[in-house]
Amino acid sequence: MNKVEITGTGSYVPPKIVDNNDLSLIVDTSDEWITSRTGIKERRISQGEDTSDMATKAAIEAIKDAKISVEDIELIVLATVTPDSFMPSTACIVQKNIKAVNATCFDVSAACSGFAYAMDIAVQFIRAGRFKNVLVIGADTFSKILDWKDRSTCILFGDGASAAFLQSGEEDQILSTYTGSDGSKGDSLTCPAVAVNNPYVDGVTGTIKSVVGMEGREIFKFGVKVLEKSVKALLQQADCTLEEIKYIIPHQANYRIIECAAKKLGIGMDRFYINLDSYGNTSAASIGIALDEVRKKNLVKKGDKILIVGFGGGLTYGGFILKVNL
Ligand code: COA
Repeated sequence: MNKVEITGTGSYVPPKIVDNNDLSLIVDTSDEWITSRTGIKERRISQGEDTSDMATKAAIEAIKDAKISVEDIELIVLATVTPDSFMPSTACIVQKNIKAVNATCFDVSAACSGFAYAMDIAVQFIRAGRFKNVLVIGADTFSKILDWKDRSTCILFGDGASAAFLQSGEEDQILSTYTGSDGSKGDSLTCPAVAVNNPYVDGVTGTIKSVVGMEGREIFKFGVKVLEKSVKALLQQADCTLEEIKYIIPHQANYRIIECAAKKLGIGMDRFYINLDSYGNTSAASIGIALDEVRKKNLVKKGDKILIVGFGGGLTYGGFILKVNL
């Protein structure tokens, strides 16, 4: 089995900062409510950049970091639930933008777990010997699918993209991977696409609004449960203890979800890397942005272990443990 190394990371968020007070001008909310319920203070909102634009910028950074040539990229796996279009896939648009002419490209739909799912796919392809150089991207422009009149959802999300470059190498840096889904609870976090509407459909088909719908409390409980479950599963598979983990990078959805999971795991909040106060929930980009920050702020050194875990619509969850070698 081939060994997998992460040789580069990158991230991008749009420049426009929207803080809680800005949101209180468009919906009936307040900085106090948002901060106390979620921990979010501000988020970045696209002023026209689409998912592929942000993904391209994060990808270019990861490619530079990995010091590889674009012609060497064999696979681009891009996680998003806010693609530019049904087709071409956003991965193919990024391929065109960066001129990765030798890559196979496809999108993965696993909402906020997307980065973890895409990483797992990349890792398995490299281990199996199918590809040696893989670009993983998580990117979402949630601002285009939010109902900006719904104060219970529009305050939670931000836009962004992140990327990681994975290569077949000398030392295996991925100590475990884990994924799971529960489609039976899919209705608690949704964004409908287009209705079946053709000359052979009986009756009148109503138009569908592609906006996010959410049962906040259900998702809250789900997040706490699968965070704990994923951490335990990843540790068991890697045969390591929580004490050996330098940082847990959780999906950046809500400070209180992380707090509840920390209590269940019997650990302090200082064991988690959290940046949701600055970016809100950036969906598939979230854990990759945090991973890029942890590396670029030099918060980890060679040999440190990071446990990364995501959860979201589908419902889906998953993660991986990474041994830092950069
Ligand atoms: N500002 C002010 N009041 C708000 C509000 C806002 N932005 N959003 C909702 N409220 C109101 C509700 O209307 C409700 O008012 P009512 O009691 O008069 O009906 C009250 O606040 C409580 O609403 P509730 O939904 O019970 O609040 P909550 O404590 O469960 O917090 C969430 C709501 C969304 C913050 C919380 O459920 C949550 O974070 N869930 C997880 C969401 C998530 O992370 N999704 C993405 C996962 S990938």
